[in-house]
Amino acid sequence: MMKISKIAKLAAGAALIAMTAGAVKAQEQVEVLHWWTSGGEAAALNVLKENLQKQGVTWKDMPVAGGAGSAAMTALRARVTAGDPPTAVQLLGFDLKDWAEMGVAANLNELAEKEGWDKVIPAALQDFSKYDGNWIAAPVNIHSTNWLWINKAALDKAGGKVPTNIEELIAMLDAFKEQGLTALAHGGVPWQDGTLWEAVVLSTGGPEFYKKAVLEADPAALSGEEMKKVFDTMSKLRTYFDQNFSGREWNLSTAMVIEGKAGAQQMGDWSKGEWLRADKKPGTDFVCIRFPGTQGSVLFNADQFMMFDVGGDAEKAQMKMASAVEDPAFQIAFNTVKGSVPARTDISDEKFDDCGKKGMKDLAEASSNGTLMGSLAHGYAQPAAIKEAMLDVITQHLNGQLTTEAALKRLPEAVAAAK
Ligand code: BGC
Repeated sequence: MMKISKIAKLAAGAALIAMTAGAVKAQEQVEVLHWWTSGGEAAALNVLKENLQKQGVTWKDMPVAGGAGSAAMTALRARVTAGDPPTAVQLLGFDLKDWAEMGVAANLNELAEKEGWDKVIPAALQDFSKYDGNWIAAPVNIHSTNWLWINKAALDKAGGKVPTNIEELIAMLDAFKEQGLTALAHGGVPWQDGTLWEAVVLSTGGPEFYKKAVLEADPAALSGEEMKKVFDTMSKLRTYFDQNFSGREWNLSTAMVIEGKAGAQQMGDWSKGEWLRADKKPGTDFVCIRFPGTQGSVLFNADQFMMFDVGGDAEKAQMKMASAVEDPAFQIAFNTVKGSVPARTDISDEKFDDCGKKGMKDLAEASSNGTLMGSLAHGYAQPAAIKEAMLDVITQHLNGQLTTEAALKRLPEAVAAAK
């Protein structure tokens, strides 16, 4: 029989091991700042949380609601200023460069090299995932903004033909109005106004005009005849919104189309996440098409987790998270729920629905044709100051505070002042 003292010693030893394990476990934690708070977004985020939990990494959630990260950036500023950044932060486009410039980014080179990220992550994303040649972020997905989501029953009633240009879009919206629906579900906040505007710019002037006006912010393009057509179309589209559009979150507008109260929504493909969450099927309950007149081009927006320099033990969990994000199986599991497509070029489209398959095909084509371009509203076309300045004019015009003539004058002025 074991002596009492020996049992006590064993018990003490076991307790010590448990404590040490506990301490190691406590260090294996990631604190993640993000704005994925809608039903579809949260479901996708769960895929990542569960993946990490299985690896023994605890998830400390820091959600900051507000589409396109509008409020999340303010929260991040406060944390970084206090010298206490989260482990990983959902960031878009030029914001990644801005934060990296402040010297607060972690370095993911070792992991990226081991896993061969250079070869599989599209160059258009690498421009933002790297700073000074060093990997600072793990891209999660590729979204795109030039989509239109249509309620299938409403479309069938309207004749079933999908619009291929602005004129046909207007005809379809008129038919939805006649059905007693809100023809176009839209939420009046700057980033959503900008998401609609950039699709109209691309549709009106084509990819070369988008490059001039948006990517180069060329004053002549921002104030010329073509841009006048864009603002006129925005004014026309405004007549198809409901009265309560002001300030509405994007997912509530999606819900209006899902429930058959509205006919269509122009929105990025995160919208599909809401449809899927509501158990709706593409082709049966809803139809996804490129925003009329923008076929052949893709305005991209990619969510990336920038890793902050948190040093010490937390780095281990951070690298596990970055590695999990780039894992091909995760890329499929996450993006089929989120509505986006993989941030890697080596993933089969087999597990994706028809909208996802189309998204992947369009992306590959646009990438080889030179018509893959960054979204303005989501930070991939211009740095924050210029983006905000442009969105300001777009929103004021859409709300009737600026005439088209005044908007055409203001747009290049606002850009110049922001530079
Ligand atoms: C993000 C998406 C997100 C959407 C709405 C976009 O800027 O890239 O992941 O679903 O905003 O919140």
